[in-house]
Amino acid sequence: MKKRTHIWLAAAAAVIAVLAGTMIMKNNGGEKKEDKKSIRVGVALYRGDDPFINNIRSKLEEKAKSYEKGTGVKVVMDVADAKGNQNTQNSQVDRFLSLGYDAICVNMVDRSAASYVINKAMDADIPVIFFNREPVEEDMKRWEKLYYVGEDAKESAVLQGNILVDLYRSNPDGLDLDGNGKVSYVLLEGESSHQDSLIRTEWSIQTLKDGGVPLEKLTGGIANWDRSQASALMEQWMEEFPREIELVICNNDEMALGAADALERGGDTRPVKIVGIDGTPQGLEGLKTGKLFGTVQCDSEEYADVIFEIAAAESLGQNVQDKVELKQGKYYQCSQMALTSDSVR
Ligand code: GAL
Repeated sequence: MKKRTHIWLAAAAAVIAVLAGTMIMKNNGGEKKEDKKSIRVGVALYRGDDPFINNIRSKLEEKAKSYEKGTGVKVVMDVADAKGNQNTQNSQVDRFLSLGYDAICVNMVDRSAASYVINKAMDADIPVIFFNREPVEEDMKRWEKLYYVGEDAKESAVLQGNILVDLYRSNPDGLDLDGNGKVSYVLLEGESSHQDSLIRTEWSIQTLKDGGVPLEKLTGGIANWDRSQASALMEQWMEEFPREIELVICNNDEMALGAADALERGGDTRPVKIVGIDGTPQGLEGLKTGKLFGTVQCDSEEYADVIFEIAAAESLGQNVQDKVELKQGKYYQCSQMALTSDSVR
């Protein structure tokens, strides 16, 4: 073959390659992100039976519907429950990515295992909105399309502590039931691996001390956010310290309700004060019936709205910062509010 023929053949091959490339792009959806008429979002939950998480899930589903109505953009939301197993969650995330979802929202089972999810999502170029279980900072820094939505744990704890400081100041006998000058308390803590447990405990107690409440710690233990584990611990403590417990400080509402269950079962009718955090529907019901004295409600609607707005903006190629005000370009902390049984009745 002559040199000229070679050049012509090479040029023709190049044109065919470019044309084929364009066709593949068209087949991939063709339209630009901004012109999309539908988005697909995967949501991976650490446990669907956790009442706080379940509440966020319902709010997310409501938000997806109202977003569809408001914008005309169709939303497909695929929710997966890992039932507390990180391997299960990894496969669920793999599935979301292989289906080419536009964004994924992940509530890690094990927050220290986030690098698996991050590596895969980066390879697939699919943004991740983590929520409630926070990956470590080094992981979060790895990519600009990683976000975290949660709560300020110190704020929850200070609000919780102040509910009790206010009570003590207005009516010391409301906490110091036997009038011996000390408030004898027990403490129920969430999972030790959860970023918020320790901070909630530390700042709740610190706030009580700073507020001048004379404290005596009887005992404490980890009940992993769980109502029945909390109830079992409380039952033991009631045997160990009969009619001595005056206050039960809990890292969340479920454990607070578990403590109330145990008191009820034990027939202890003293007005023992129990406080939680979350403001779940179950927690609010507990406040109304007087089982719980106080809680710190997380604005679950705002929580879900923000998760969804970030996912939708990323899916449609919009500037996320125009929709949601983020700290360091990736963090959002939801509003919280203290509630007592008086405020909801
Ligand atoms: C906490 C919440 C707990 C539990 C936990 C799960 O923020 O207070 O009730 O849901 O998250 O990670």
